[in-house]
Amino acid sequence: MKTYRIGVIPGDGTGPEVVREGLKVLEAVSKKSAFSYTTTFYPFGGEHYLKTGETLPDSAIEEFKKLDALYLGAIGHPEVKPGILERGILLKLRFSLDQYINLRPVKLYPGVWTPIKDKGPEDIDFVVVRENTEGLYVGAGGNLHQGTPYEVAIQESINTRRGVERCIRFAFEFTKKRNKKNKLTLCGKTNVLTYAFDLWERTFQEVAQEYPNIKTDYAHVDATTMWMVKNPEWFDVIVTDNMFGDIITDLGAMIQGGMGIAAGGNINPEGVSMFEPIGGSAPKYTGKNVINPLAAISAMQMLLSHIGEEEAAQRIEQAIIKALESGKIKSMSAGQMGLNTSEVGDLIASLV
Ligand code: IPM
Ligand code: MN
Repeated sequence: MKTYRIGVIPGDGTGPEVVREGLKVLEAVSKKSAFSYTTTFYPFGGEHYLKTGETLPDSAIEEFKKLDALYLGAIGHPEVKPGILERGILLKLRFSLDQYINLRPVKLYPGVWTPIKDKGPEDIDFVVVRENTEGLYVGAGGNLHQGTPYEVAIQESINTRRGVERCIRFAFEFTKKRNKKNKLTLCGKTNVLTYAFDLWERTFQEVAQEYPNIKTDYAHVDATTMWMVKNPEWFDVIVTDNMFGDIITDLGAMIQGGMGIAAGGNINPEGVSMFEPIGGSAPKYTGKNVINPLAAISAMQMLLSHIGEEEAAQRIEQAIIKALESGKIKSMSAGQMGLNTSEVGDLIASLV
């Protein structure tokens, strides 16, 4: 029997509550699919930072490298200045483990409400492949004469041939394996960001030559947001840079039913990957047992699929679908589910 080492960072706010349910489902499915695992908990997050001044030490990164995967709840604290935890924990984790892909499925399950009128599960089913280590996120730039009328602020988008190419290659391979519409759309802004997206577009065209069975398409990012709402069925897989990927996946989360159900994976195909619900720490719902754990449970599904436990991953997805079809979960929104957080976890665990 295979044993996986899973690192768990419950984090802040409602993070620990949703992680608990994800682990409950992991326990149930491990029995069905006959694998075993160990969990190691790490305290990193806003609370830990306020207590110790530590964000994410290098020694932890070294420990993470020995794991099979990481499972994260949420990072964010109302009393910590914006940027400290994001850069110091989340981005440090993504960058130092070279998790160069942020994989974000946008899938509307049956029985889930979408704000898009006349669109259903057959229309909303695509995946965003977001570059996760470059672009505007690297923190290149600086400022001069801060606080004066002569202030200058520069924030540069860094795009390397290697970084862009490995992301695009991943997206083509992923589209091929997914084998749905076999269509990959590059989302960029070639009409304005003429240096960065020229590199993206040329690389995209070159790699496309190796995938004659994948249809390719291009959409500017502004048009992408329009089509995601008007014709989401046009998309199969979208590949894009870090910043655009960040923005369009929040829109994606909304059309699939909200942050309560949106999950993502920060993937290093050759290293250690991290899986997380894409919503934040939701301070106002903390400790109330009302937050929706389905996003975290879906993140666990992605984790298992990534480490090679595909059958277990399928069991979780089918359990989520069954639970949603049963009508027992009234809404994806915190406090309106009709069940509390742990009851949703119990329901999924009973159905895997
Ligand atoms: C996300 C988040 C992060 C990002 C923040 C918290 C740094 O919005 O995972 O999408 O911008 O990547
Ligand atoms: Mn985001």
